[in-house]
Amino acid sequence: MKRIGVLTSGGDAPGMNAAVRAVVRAATHLGMEVVGIRRGFQGLYQGDMRLLGPRDVANTIQRGGTILLTARSEVWRTPEGRAEGARHLREWGIDGLVVIGGDGSFHGAHFLSQEHGVKVIGVPGTIDNDLYGTDHTIGYFTAVETALAAVDKLRDTAASHERIFVVEVMGRHAGHIALDVAVAGGAEEVFLPEEDMPVTSVVDVINESVKKGKASSIIIVAEGYPGGAMAVSKAINEGTGLETRVSILGHIQRGGTPVSSDRILASRLGEAAVQALADDVSGVMVGRNNGIIAFTPLEETWARRKEISRDLYRCAKTLSV
Ligand code: F6P
Repeated sequence: MKRIGVLTSGGDAPGMNAAVRAVVRAATHLGMEVVGIRRGFQGLYQGDMRLLGPRDVANTIQRGGTILLTARSEVWRTPEGRAEGARHLREWGIDGLVVIGGDGSFHGAHFLSQEHGVKVIGVPGTIDNDLYGTDHTIGYFTAVETALAAVDKLRDTAASHERIFVVEVMGRHAGHIALDVAVAGGAEEVFLPEEDMPVTSVVDVINESVKKGKASSIIIVAEGYPGGAMAVSKAINEGTGLETRVSILGHIQRGGTPVSSDRILASRLGEAAVQALADDVSGVMVGRNNGIIAFTPLEETWARRKEISRDLYRCAKTLSV
């Protein structure tokens, strides 16, 4: 393999730059050239790409966002869009492609590979940590730190005003961020999409907290929980008559300097992705489980659900007494 492409796609995640850097440098080490494709599959469709050398990715490992830019491409959902992208890959003499992104991006990579025989390797880059086949995704650790820092600040004002705060964190359909933030932030309760917990159960939680002498409470809600933070807040207002404040943390969780765990994960997975292409492997995501590099077919990464830790969920409940 002489020349490979790399792109970042879907929601950005802190550590994507570290992954791009790893791809470029690992490829250089193996004597391959790398073409950086801008705006993910949208840029591939448009032919917006250029050669990247090791110096082009200098001073990027610590930067949030993605220097390659990213997009959620509508045209890539069409066979015609993918055919145009494949044509650009051929024009540029690109033999393999590293796709850094989440499940939507892996769908795009899978179809490209199936329809046009392009060799693809997925690198899990999403704050949601919702991909089967890797313990963690790039960006997840930083997003948890960012959300946790916000919760710590909210606790100061919640305690001062003796208020109930309902905090919504990202994660799309998954509750991984919410669960980690709830445990690390000492939340009174956590609502996850994975748990079939009626929203009205929060009324007992708040009443119990008041009985135990808690003057303020923090309730964490994953955005994927039906109705999100607004539904939980409404249930508290209606069931207890108490006031709440709602804080939806939103896209702030996607930004910022990647923490060391994300940089290290990105470096290792980026390197492993290039080695996989060199070894003629294709159609898989490279992940890390218990510290060991593992390959999972792309379809499995989205078709199989990555469970939340039941043990940690139990722990969250135990410690919120
Ligand atoms: O997948 C990452 C993520 O941040 C999700 O947590 C969230 O649901 C979604 O992207 C938001 O997407 P957008 O940036 O397109 O609003």
